[in-house]
Amino acid sequence: MSVPHSDALVFFGATGDLAYKKIFPSLQAMLKRGHLKVPVIGVAKAGWNLDQLKARAKDSLEKHGGLDPVAFEQLSKLLRYVDGDYADAATFQQLKQQLGDAQSPAHYMAIPPLLFGQVVEQLAKAGCAGPGARIIVEKPFGTDMESARNLNRILLNTFDEARIFRIDHYLGKRPVHNLQFFRFANSFPESYWNRDHIESVQITMAEDFGVQGRGKFYDQTGTIRDVMQNHLFQLMANIAMEPPPRLDSETVRDEKVKVLKAIPPLTVRDVVRGQFQGYLDEPGVAPDSTVETFAALKLELDSWRWKGVPFYIRAGKCLPVTCTEVLIRMRPPPTMYEDFQLEPNYLRLRISPEATIAIGINVVAPADDTTGGINEMIAAHHPTKEEMDAYERVLGDAMSGDATLFSREDYVEEAWRIVDPMLKAKTPVYPYQPGTWGPPEVDRLLAPPGGWWNPTVA
Ligand code: BG6
Repeated sequence: MSVPHSDALVFFGATGDLAYKKIFPSLQAMLKRGHLKVPVIGVAKAGWNLDQLKARAKDSLEKHGGLDPVAFEQLSKLLRYVDGDYADAATFQQLKQQLGDAQSPAHYMAIPPLLFGQVVEQLAKAGCAGPGARIIVEKPFGTDMESARNLNRILLNTFDEARIFRIDHYLGKRPVHNLQFFRFANSFPESYWNRDHIESVQITMAEDFGVQGRGKFYDQTGTIRDVMQNHLFQLMANIAMEPPPRLDSETVRDEKVKVLKAIPPLTVRDVVRGQFQGYLDEPGVAPDSTVETFAALKLELDSWRWKGVPFYIRAGKCLPVTCTEVLIRMRPPPTMYEDFQLEPNYLRLRISPEATIAIGINVVAPADDTTGGINEMIAAHHPTKEEMDAYERVLGDAMSGDATLFSREDYVEEAWRIVDPMLKAKTPVYPYQPGTWGPPEVDRLLAPPGGWWNPTVA
């Protein structure tokens, strides 16, 4: 079903952190590209007026991405503000007034999921959720299978699936999209993209910073819910999916759901969790918290293509670098060069801080033909600084009605099905020193064949 282009953008949580860090910079970027021409209505309960919201927007742009005076002037003209409680029908009457003739507003929930139900119900009652309207919701979508199902039920009471846009901003990153492009726009990867040639896959999302003032949120979330069940599963789905027969949003998303369907639920043996030393002193964190700031998972895909190829996924805060990278290790050849210290061929796909596609190939050493080693052939290497920000892309797509880069109901529920039993089992949390690659236990209990690949950043 086609969804019309939005004729207004409403964002709930306009005075919050996400709006400050991501939404205002994305709105300015959209304006600069000529992609934003509709009223932008911020909603919050802060006792503010429109001038205060404009001042906040200005400050956000100065701190995150740079203020462009011309674009800011245009943004100021489009900005409106509604102040009020989400439980109060009067707030939504004000919103209705601000929407004027708009028939296809995009309602963006940059608010805690606990409030979604209330807001959606009020939107419907106030007549702001007509057939052209859509809803955009932030991750994490629920905290487990049951809460995700409940959330889906709440949203589906008012909006049909085609008008629900569940954000996973990783899908808005060009290098993530490039994983699919690399696989399906070339003919050679397909011949080795299977269990006969690939030994293992590793996906690492490392961050060299901690929870940075997000202690309260993080302590209710943890690494697995924050970035693995969503961002890193999306990377895995892009690597493991079958070629989609068509490129429309439903066909592409069908293939991703099929990947998750092939994965059995994780058990306690498939996870190692860690917590950096010092986390318990962070504001907002419970003094006896056992929430993880690091996790490594081992997943099996019971599919024709992948059976027997382990997928290792690792993420953490306070690690040595900030980098997201995929390493695909190939099976070794039946080599006769036993005296050479050869390593398996690999494909390295870096998502950030720069986008790289590299292949590791063994070659004989230039000065000594009795030794050899791995060399990289680099197919692409681009800084990602100049690229369209992921939030700008996903917001723009939601407003234009293109659902390809959003998680569908069945996908989100499958992802929870995989992690739920393991999360509920409350496995041990091992301490680790900030600036290391997680707790030492991860190498003992969950090491990929050939060991973990630790990305380095220049
Ligand atoms: C967010 C997580 O979804 O993604 C953060 O909540 C994480 O904890 C962030 O730092 C990473 O995103 P990016 O785009 O900065 O790599």
